[in-house]
Amino acid sequence: MRITLKINLLTTAWMLLILILINVVVFILFMNTTLNMEEDVGSQKAREIVKSIHANNTSSSIQSELKNYLTDNSYIRILGPKGQILYEVTNEEALAKKVKGKSVNTQEIERLGIKLKGEEKQVLIVRVPLEDTGFHNASLEIGEELAGLETRKDILLWILGVSTVLAVFLSLLSGKWLSNIIMRPISNMINTMEDIERSGVPKKIMIHNDTKDELQTLANTFNRMIDRLEENFEKQSQFVSDASHELKTPLTVIKSYANLLRRHGLEDQELAEEAIQAIHSEANRIQKMTETFLDVASIEKEIALEMSVVNLIPFCQTILKQMKQAYKREINLHYEESPMLILADELKLKQVIIILLDNAIKYSHDKIDVFLDKNGDNIVVRIKDYGMGIPQEEIKNIFERFYRVDKARSRETGGSGLGLYIAKSIMKLHKGEIKIKSKEGEGTEVKLILSASIEL
Ligand SMILES: Nc1ncnc2c1ncn2[C@@H]1O[C@H](COP(=O)(O)OP(=O)(O)OP(=O)(O)O)[C@@H](O)[C@H]1O
Ligand SMILES: [Mg+2]
Repeated sequence: MRITLKINLLTTAWMLLILILINVVVFILFMNTTLNMEEDVGSQKAREIVKSIHANNTSSSIQSELKNYLTDNSYIRILGPKGQILYEVTNEEALAKKVKGKSVNTQEIERLGIKLKGEEKQVLIVRVPLEDTGFHNASLEIGEELAGLETRKDILLWILGVSTVLAVFLSLLSGKWLSNIIMRPISNMINTMEDIERSGVPKKIMIHNDTKDELQTLANTFNRMIDRLEENFEKQSQFVSDASHELKTPLTVIKSYANLLRRHGLEDQELAEEAIQAIHSEANRIQKMTETFLDVASIEKEIALEMSVVNLIPFCQTILKQMKQAYKREINLHYEESPMLILADELKLKQVIIILLDNAIKYSHDKIDVFLDKNGDNIVVRIKDYGMGIPQEEIKNIFERFYRVDKARSRETGGSGLGLYIAKSIMKLHKGEIKIKSKEGEGTEVKLILSASIEL
């Protein structure tokens, strides 16, 4: 069942139930009030008659006095102690015949349902004792058909019935209109999603009115999600194309040397050695590159960091020792305070420092200095080399994926242009900063800014 129809039927059923309840209450209240009023009028009339008659009056004057009070479809009687009729006036013989007289000591009001001329009629009977009128143990009895009440009851039932049917009809109409208003944006969203499913192309939901309601929030969230997907999709395809481009060069070198070997290599010892050397080094390059690609892929997944408190002094000392050993270069660590604690993912932070030291080693020949400073709530790691430096206009680009300042030079040094991109991404995950200051021909200083940990 469609949701619009469901909303419509449910609201109408609910409304009908409420209306029926209200109608029942209105009907009961109306009937009670009207009957009470009729009873009041009846007893008032009885009291007036009692005042106006006396046993000493002549029988004809009593009769005519009683007649004065006679209304449509009624009778008035004076009854003896045993209920025998002493006087009776009526304009509805059938009614007078049906109701048996009854003498009373106190006022009594009775309502009876009586079949008159084939129809069920409601009759109100008021009985009062005749005191101070000279009659002995006699009673006055007034009986009248509640004809007006019946008519009013019928009119009320008709009004309630018609208004209920009208209300249900209006509720169905307005329910349809309302559910259409609510469902329009949802249908819009469903259409867009089906479009995306069919074509496989991310697409945004059009927002026509600024309604600021939950449906708009839903559409906005969906659009943000699509933006993000598009961004990731673009990033991924860009990465795949950049990566394949990067792999193309070493593969071409390998292929051309392999061809050379196939044709002349075995005869020419020198050429064979050169070819093997080149193939080996290019294969190494590819291996390193693929490792870096995997690093990028894992960082772009934005996996959660495994944070722990790291004391930067022994941490840097260990890394520096390993690098010095591997590259036989002078790398000095400078710090004034101890300990220097930060909260970080140890492995990832190590990767950042190695990337920066690797650059400093590759792009300089002199010593390298590493400084650890405290700056307010932050700890700053500075890696400074005195090498070729980076041209001012290039600094803004070097954090981009696969960006290298001097492509030819980087080929010699074997870089793929991903180091600084990975370092920046890791720093971002740590909510830290990475900044570069460099002067061509003088050297480069990379600053890592991390918030200090208060834990010991
Ligand atoms: N300390 C530095 N001195 C001079 N140039 C640098 C320095 N660090 C980075 N660069 C320049 O910035 C570019 C980008 O550096 P990045 O570390 O991202 O890539 P890469 O070193 O070329 O390759 P990878 O680090 O992936 O092996 C480098 O190619 C280099 O031109
Ligand atoms: Mg590098």
